[in-house]
Amino acid sequence: MSAADVRVGIIGCGHIARGAHAPGYHRAGATMVACADVVPERAQRFAQDFGMAHWYQDYHQLLDRDDIDAVSVTVPNRFHQAVVDDALARGKHVLCEKPMAVDRASAQKMRDRARQAKRILMIGFQNRFRPEVQRLKTMITQGDLGPIRYARAGWMRRRGSGWGWYSNQDISGGGAFIDIGVHALDLAYYLLGSPTARTVSAMTYQQFGRYQLAERVEWQSADASEGLDDGSIFTVEDSGMALIHFDNGSALFLEAAWASNLVESESLFVDLSGDRAGAHLFPLELYEERHGTLMNTRPSIPGKDASSEEIRQFLGDIQQGREWPQMNTPDEGLAIQSLIDAVYRSARRGGVSVEVESREGSALD
Ligand SMILES: NC(=O)c1ccc[n+]([C@@H]2O[C@H](COP(=O)([O-])OP(=O)(O)OC[C@H]3O[C@@H](n4cnc5c(N)ncnc54)[C@H](O)[C@@H]3O)[C@@H](O)[C@H]2O)c1
Repeated sequence: MSAADVRVGIIGCGHIARGAHAPGYHRAGATMVACADVVPERAQRFAQDFGMAHWYQDYHQLLDRDDIDAVSVTVPNRFHQAVVDDALARGKHVLCEKPMAVDRASAQKMRDRARQAKRILMIGFQNRFRPEVQRLKTMITQGDLGPIRYARAGWMRRRGSGWGWYSNQDISGGGAFIDIGVHALDLAYYLLGSPTARTVSAMTYQQFGRYQLAERVEWQSADASEGLDDGSIFTVEDSGMALIHFDNGSALFLEAAWASNLVESESLFVDLSGDRAGAHLFPLELYEERHGTLMNTRPSIPGKDASSEEIRQFLGDIQQGREWPQMNTPDEGLAIQSLIDAVYRSARRGGVSVEVESREGSALD
């Protein structure tokens, strides 16, 4: 089976579908069959632009097609669970954008449904596919860093709030943490070897809300950029930090900001402190002591488009007839979602330490 034999559909024809998914499938040589969006003109334009023969306003009609093997789910966060559930129930493989869901309970249902359906459900944490992340992962697995005691990770923006549904709690499930902090959390969790988390203590803030600034760096929904949503609903945090303790004794300090008074306009970073060496992303740097000298190394690693690599992995799993993804599994998505839930639970209680619900466990409160 080649990539061209995998027939795909895209549900949600907004910015990430246009910027990453459709181009990724095109580059990989998959067959793009149909798309769907509740805004019909958007679906029609998308189908025309990416050479898809069919478009729908109701995604169920897309899922009813027998000539679609796999779908990308690129709708706003709140709708991930329902669409993924419907897609898996109709036997489709699914690449679902991050965050997996708006809360742990929804993520758990999605994971359980994927197990039942025996179909690939991959979660769209594309940063894992950056070549420098893969290189660092190999180094860690080979023991180059030694045991990692402590990590710091974050995605910080000076002014770059999500506009449109992103700032509406009911649809997004949260602000900076669930939107961009989740990428930093996923990277750290992946590089630390998916440790079991024990407790979280977190604070979140809404200091800036909706601001007017021409030069802001931002990601906005298709509705916001088309003037259909003025972004006036701002019911989420725009910054926060969390301290996560893992069962193996290691700890992660996590930061997220859509807006904060910082020197840099934007940074996504992970710092790992191992007994033998430390590492920093991005770019990848390594810190160690060798022959009585402190050494800093910056490996030269050719770049690759992470979203395209993620899509190649998704298609590859399907081509090989797998029932469970090799990367970005629903179990990992659920673990990340459990941590995000704990961050918000702790923040609602003023930062007290809260337990993280286990992968299999039931709700604590
Ligand atoms: N991996 C990344 O780095 C990354 C980057 C941006 C966005 N995302 C994620 O991708 C998802 C989409 O984000 P976006 O910025 O493209 O949003 P968007 O608002 O630009 O696009 C979402 C589209 O879904 C459509 N839609 C809503 N409900 C629908 C339904 N029931 N059926 C069909 N279509 C429906 C909307 O009309 C819209 O066109 C979000 O979950 C977001 O977190 C991930």
